[in-house]
Amino acid sequence: MSMQVQDYREYLQEILIPEEQLQQRIAELAAEISRDYEGKLPLLICILRGGVMFLTDLIRYLTIPHEIDFMAIESYGQGRRDPGEIRLTMDLHTTIRGRHVLLVEDIIDTGNTVAQVLELLQVRQPKSLKVCVLLDKVERRQVEVPIHYRGFEIPNKFVFGYGLDMDGYWRNLPFIAVPDLSRYRPPKPFPSEEKD
Ligand code: IMP
Ligand code: MG
Repeated sequence: MSMQVQDYREYLQEILIPEEQLQQRIAELAAEISRDYEGKLPLLICILRGGVMFLTDLIRYLTIPHEIDFMAIESYGQGRRDPGEIRLTMDLHTTIRGRHVLLVEDIIDTGNTVAQVLELLQVRQPKSLKVCVLLDKVERRQVEVPIHYRGFEIPNKFVFGYGLDMDGYWRNLPFIAVPDLSRYRPPKPFPSEEKD
């Protein structure tokens, strides 16, 4: 089914972090990680799907050997009924026991997601387990989570672009943007296809 998707320029309020600033900071994080994990062969784990852009850019700047793997989770409730309930929908391919694991995430908001993913990974006895996050919405934190590498602290605003989506779209944008939600229309199927 094809969808009617509004152009993001119609509701773009501001570009919070432009491309050059993102790339510069990601290169700095990668340099730090390369120093810290020298000789250690880390496994970088990305939580699908929001963290994909960040992971792929980050590893382009790494100067040490490393591996990557992916996992997918589904969160229930999202701040409504039961905040923080997550379900693993795709597991890692790699056995992480005895490995130096670095969790790479797009954004930490309440902290629930990362806290639960860390618990789930810790049970598998990695040699070390650290967190690298691009965006930290620090004001919203409900659960304390350790952050070893942080790209940017951001204000309590919904953001999209650079992996983060508006109802599934615009993950491809090379910058982090803030929408004006009063001008936003959620995607909907073309009227002729609605009954398909
Ligand atoms: P937490 O469990 O509250 O820390 O939420 C983390 C997850 O919520 C992230 O992995 C994102 O998928 C989503 N999220 C939180 N804030 C935003 C945002 O501003 N834009 C898009 N997704 C967000
Ligand atoms: Mg996410």
